[in-house]
Amino acid sequence: MKIIRHLLFLILAALLTPAFAANAPATLKSPDGQLELTFAVYDGVPYYSLNRNGKPVVLPSKMGFTLEWRDDLAHAFVLKDTKYSTFDETWEPVWGEEAHIRNHYNEMLVTLEQPVGSVESMDHSTETRATVMQIRFRLYDDGLGFRYEFPIKNALVCFWIMEELTEFAMSGDHTAWWIPGDYDTQEYNYTQSKLSEIRKLWEAGHKNGGWPWTAFSKTGVQTALQMKTDDGLYINIHEAATLDFPTMHLDLNDTTMTFRAWLCPDATGYKGRIQAPCTTPWRTVMVCEKATDVLASRLILNLNEPCALEDVSWIHPVKYMGVWWEMISGKSTWNYTNDFPSVKIGETDFEHATPNGTHGANNANVRRYIDFAAANGFDGLLIEGWNVGWEDWYGKEKVFVFDFLTPYPDFDLPALNQYAHEKGIRLIMHHESSASTGNYERWMEKAYTLMNQYGYDAVKGGYVGTIIPFGEGHYSQPINNHYHYAIEEAAKHHIMVNSHEAVRPTGLCRTWPNMIGNESAMGTEFRERIHPGHTTILPFTRLQGGPMDYTPGIFETDMEKNAPWNRDLMRHTICNQLGLYVTFYSPLQMAADFPEHYEPYMDAFQFIKDVAVDWDTSIYIAAEIGDYIVTARHPKTSTLNLAAEGVGELPDGKKGVISNAARFVYGLDGANGVNGLDGMTPRDTWYVGGVTDEEAREVEVKLDFLKPGLKYEATIYADAKDASGWVSDVKMGWDAAQKEGYNPKAYTITKKTVTSKSKLKLRMAPCGGFAVSIREIK
Ligand code: NOJ
Ligand code: CA
Repeated sequence: MKIIRHLLFLILAALLTPAFAANAPATLKSPDGQLELTFAVYDGVPYYSLNRNGKPVVLPSKMGFTLEWRDDLAHAFVLKDTKYSTFDETWEPVWGEEAHIRNHYNEMLVTLEQPVGSVESMDHSTETRATVMQIRFRLYDDGLGFRYEFPIKNALVCFWIMEELTEFAMSGDHTAWWIPGDYDTQEYNYTQSKLSEIRKLWEAGHKNGGWPWTAFSKTGVQTALQMKTDDGLYINIHEAATLDFPTMHLDLNDTTMTFRAWLCPDATGYKGRIQAPCTTPWRTVMVCEKATDVLASRLILNLNEPCALEDVSWIHPVKYMGVWWEMISGKSTWNYTNDFPSVKIGETDFEHATPNGTHGANNANVRRYIDFAAANGFDGLLIEGWNVGWEDWYGKEKVFVFDFLTPYPDFDLPALNQYAHEKGIRLIMHHESSASTGNYERWMEKAYTLMNQYGYDAVKGGYVGTIIPFGEGHYSQPINNHYHYAIEEAAKHHIMVNSHEAVRPTGLCRTWPNMIGNESAMGTEFRERIHPGHTTILPFTRLQGGPMDYTPGIFETDMEKNAPWNRDLMRHTICNQLGLYVTFYSPLQMAADFPEHYEPYMDAFQFIKDVAVDWDTSIYIAAEIGDYIVTARHPKTSTLNLAAEGVGELPDGKKGVISNAARFVYGLDGANGVNGLDGMTPRDTWYVGGVTDEEAREVEVKLDFLKPGLKYEATIYADAKDASGWVSDVKMGWDAAQKEGYNPKAYTITKKTVTSKSKLKLRMAPCGGFAVSIREIK
């Protein structure tokens, strides 16, 4: 490894000598001058490297592509032009972790040419025209973004990528938090290891993941990949704005510690069918001194284009419940009948089928959830299993699996929507495509129109199983295009989208803010299989690209209470779940458990009711990847009650519905019949949350972010002294677990008057956490 590195340094050293003056390296500094990028063409090959305060972050790394039907974009290049610019603006996201985001970078655009006749192509275009490839570098204080651009004046017009050659040569054997590279699933636990240990741990890293899985290399990993150097520097490799392009994984050469971009191929093996003029997604290298700076970074969002939608008034944050965990945990079923081993949509007669008695999405049950969600000031209710086809939807690779239009006989779609709207709740549609993407596209217009007809304004999508068209993976260029098509078409219908099993996000929600959520990682549905500490890793990795529908809020951790055959115990405390509403950013947050599991703990549930989901300020107080996260957030009052508007109008035209978070912030606790929020003043309010892995921890939180001179009431939801979410064997059953100290439901709630001078000492139990709401006293 040392020899190769030496060679790379010699390359850059050589470039600095007069003999190579024509190819002198171009350099670019970040606005604060700490990061420095160097770009050079050596022997026709483009290279870049990145330093921080003179120390290497990325060693000289190759750039380019290999192509079909012509010479590669990997040699014979000459540097034709270098242009510099600088940019500094502050923009306002439609929703987010903060109200204002600064986008400040220095840019360098290099134009490279393979001169006429220097390379060969099947269509002979290179004999008369030069091949032009530009690389645009943007250097921020917290990292680098670069992308390839192909202008139209070019020997390259339509071309086929075989491999992307972009390298990320690391300067050492860093610690990494990684999930295995895979063309079909991201639903994995993370493994923490040295880069050199990935190969040996790869097999184990695959255990207990999602299905189907399609691996490509024993040193292949997914992005966002978070690393930490022995010197304590945090390096994160990801991508931004992945549109009309395959997803990038990374393959590690564990001799040289060099990653190479590994694009997900399409069914024919190509890794991108490209048409100029176009740009690739941005490749990103985030570099931060502190773990909390990684959480505060907006690098990925900044590299995306501004909002593409003119009217965003219909987009709003959503706090929701669901007829969902019942099916996931085994209490009820998505399917309505057990009569049919085979369903033919449009032919199978469900009206005369025998109900199986376990169908969750039935009228009475849905009304029960609506009542509970409305009584507690939620915005929405997801209902899965409402539409015909669930009898044989899974693992059968059916093309025509759902029509997304026909409800089961016991789901009265118009009546339930009316009932919900009268109570100020919007039903959330569910479109499980079963990964049959063509079928979904065929029905999409009708399905979205049906949603408009009944006032659904949000849909949860799903892509479980083998992708159809057969041979495609979940993250190839054509399938990435499908996910984007669904977002664009939904926007035309003023529908917000939350897709599960779709590609992990790359910040596109800046451009398309109707994309309010994704799963695209291991979420709560994996129950007992989730490793302690998982939720202290995701904000560094998966959440860098956009919010996650993690579906927190499980109070009943003993799955035997849900289904007698299910012995699983979940490893978390109730306060850990409360903490997630603050540490885990999403404008779409679920309270995922059953009403009857919240009812015995309504005092703790109060935090979920009170917490906001959209913020104007976020402060990352303390964090270490895989260990703990403590965050404080201040709500954006303008969006607190947006979801409630438009539903729940009282017969006399008064706006009677106010979300519970708005009630809390406006100090309307318990006040009924309030006519909207007009003319009322919000109280200054903060929420603080903490989560930890299997280790108990104590943290001190200084409340110096509160306004000086004001008095606040803090309500502290903390793990009790004897609380613990840790259990050595998740299958041992509740009684045995208690003997070893498993005590997930033990919490205390205390109220305190605090000011900006106060400090809170908060203890988190093993697999525990805490939540605090802090509201100005008036
Ligand atoms: C997997 C999703 O992640 C889950 O939330 C959903 O309930 C099932 N698919 C069925 O669509
Ligand atoms: Ca899933």
